[in-house]
Amino acid sequence: MSTFTAAPTALIVHAHPEPQSFSTAQMTAAAQCLGDAGYRVDVLDLYADGWAPVLAREEFAPVQGPFKPQAEQLRAVREGTLDAAVRAHLDRLLAADLLVLSFPMWWFSLPAVLKGWVDRVFVMGGVFGGDHGLFGDAALAGKRAMLLFTTGGPGESFRPGGAFGPMDDFLFHIHRGMLEFVGFQVLEPVITYGPARMTDQERAAALEAVRESVARVAADAGTTVG
Ligand SMILES: Cc1cc2nc3c(=O)[nH]c(=O)nc-3n(C[C@H](O)[C@H](O)[C@H](O)COP(=O)(O)O)c2cc1C
Repeated sequence: MSTFTAAPTALIVHAHPEPQSFSTAQMTAAAQCLGDAGYRVDVLDLYADGWAPVLAREEFAPVQGPFKPQAEQLRAVREGTLDAAVRAHLDRLLAADLLVLSFPMWWFSLPAVLKGWVDRVFVMGGVFGGDHGLFGDAALAGKRAMLLFTTGGPGESFRPGGAFGPMDDFLFHIHRGMLEFVGFQVLEPVITYGPARMTDQERAAALEAVRESVARVAADAGTTVG
């Protein structure tokens, strides 16, 4: 008798408008690393794919009365009328054992295209609410998620007492409000501070550090936040 274990799947959702950017280089390094570790790697490149980030009433079946976005999401899940692009991305999200959000920090948060991906794809009834609960009872419980991102500011600015304040303060709304909310166990983020000010040699070393961090995650040895 043979036993067969399916390869785990990693979904990388990438949000950078420039293929030559450091963010894109570290996303590519992470994808390679996960693939080398035996993951099936699925990459959603939101800019390259022209993802439309705005949640609007037009994506739903005609609404009677005032438009209530989450009620419409729940109805669309139940009636099988979710927008085809949202349904396709939701299916890819549900199929993933590991979610990696890859982006440059913009305004101490996610670029709008990635926030809009969460707005449209983390649908009520699909990943939380409806037949699912919240947090540990939500649809993605038992799966892992992590942030992979770059900053403009240096690391010391994001320490307690630094010019900007602790990085954890900026990440809380993503870690708790988006990822844990839908059930994910959140891993420590992988951050490259200020790649624009690095020499080529420093950038190469930073990419190597990304590979090492992602290899630990792939080996199930990544530490969780909190
Ligand atoms: C719209 C916008 C907002 C930004 N906001 C921040 C910010 O809040 N904090 C920060 O450290 N850098 C900020 N930056 C700088 C980027 O994070 C930085 O240029 C990027 O992470 C570098 O990686 P890249 O070369 O791959 O783009 C911002 C850049 C843009 C374009």
